[in-house]
Amino acid sequence: MAQRIQEAINIIKMNDRGGYTVPTNQLYPYQWNWDSAFTALGIWHFNKWRAWLEIMSLLDGQWQDGMIPHIVFRHNDPDYFPGPAIWDTNTEPPTSGHSQPPVLASIIWRFVQMGTDYDKRKAIEVFPKLMAYHRWFSNARDPNNLGIISIIHPWESGRDNCPDWDIGMQNIVISGNLERYTRRDTSHVDSNQRPTQDQYDRFITIVNFGRECDWDSQTIYANGPFLMADPGVQFIFLRASRDLLAMAHHLEMDLAIDEIKGWVEQVEAGSDFLWNDVVGGYCARDLRTGQFSDAITNASMLSFFADVGSPEQRKSMEAHCRRILGASAFGMPSWDPDHQAFESQRYWRGPVWAIMNHMVISGLEDAGLVDLAARVRNDTINLINEHGMAEYFDPRDGDGLGGMDFSWTAAVYLDLYKTEVAASIVAAG
Ligand code: DGY
Repeated sequence: MAQRIQEAINIIKMNDRGGYTVPTNQLYPYQWNWDSAFTALGIWHFNKWRAWLEIMSLLDGQWQDGMIPHIVFRHNDPDYFPGPAIWDTNTEPPTSGHSQPPVLASIIWRFVQMGTDYDKRKAIEVFPKLMAYHRWFSNARDPNNLGIISIIHPWESGRDNCPDWDIGMQNIVISGNLERYTRRDTSHVDSNQRPTQDQYDRFITIVNFGRECDWDSQTIYANGPFLMADPGVQFIFLRASRDLLAMAHHLEMDLAIDEIKGWVEQVEAGSDFLWNDVVGGYCARDLRTGQFSDAITNASMLSFFADVGSPEQRKSMEAHCRRILGASAFGMPSWDPDHQAFESQRYWRGPVWAIMNHMVISGLEDAGLVDLAARVRNDTINLINEHGMAEYFDPRDGDGLGGMDFSWTAAVYLDLYKTEVAASIVAAG
């Protein structure tokens, strides 16, 4: 264990590019939004100043309208496609053109809860930026106030090639004059563990649409090639808004309180749109056609993290959780192992992800489902102890997959370890 702790710290330091941390060497050579937020949580346990610097450098990429993009580019790296020229956002620093799951406020609230006056001062400094970010999500991704936070690209969900998106992706017309491009990801990772070429053509078609309308969020919402509701972004936004509300009370930001309450109430009420009666659970749904995805994912399992659902809905989600963990050597898989589309090694179509588990654990603990939380927590620690700090893991045999020496996996390991040690000290009294 002690050796793995040191390894986790070393990996994060090795991925430090001077003020920001890359997810892993080569495969992801820039700063990614939710990677950076989780990585900051890991760094916080050994260097608070550097953890806040990670947050500050991410916020450096925030757009005028409040959006925090999913990638901040600080140079042009031939190892990655699509780079800054393809996005062409005309921002300084150059960035991608959409966001990623808004975990940031929840991470910062953890710093404030665990920390000292130093963290409180830093949180006061960034609070207006967090408000702007949540306001942007609410306005740009839910312009009709439905309480349903949309995503305009599978990459915005962070769960890039999950079968959830197949229904929205199949309706994309791949532009006939799609320029030839060379993928870089498959030169770093086995192509069986990455999205297919057809999926990439669709990903790039959406990026081209965004670039051609100058990333105008209204045009993209109204006419973009892809518009879906994601239980992941929906529940993470809701939880982050609840955490922002708690932070506003704690920091005495009284003027912000009503606005945040508005987001919480609206998105909580809108979450029923994602309830699929046939599955008996929360599923992704196409906003253009109303069509549902038909399986439980690790993002569905964030309903507890967001604290949503009637008593019956919660019972049904708990039953899914027990069934899926029963069917997996290691939980929580990114796609239901009992579904025919399950692929144990392909990125978001089956593998287990430490960061998703981190949020699933919090939600299950909050819901009082302590046995399930303990199972996912132990699985996460065992996966990393036995197979290293991989990007993701095979739920059947635990094999480490994708990029290796991964910052956010190392960060989750550090956080789970530190909170376990803290809990055992409290228990020992
Ligand atoms: C990738 O390149 O695979 C990223 O997940 C997109 O953000």
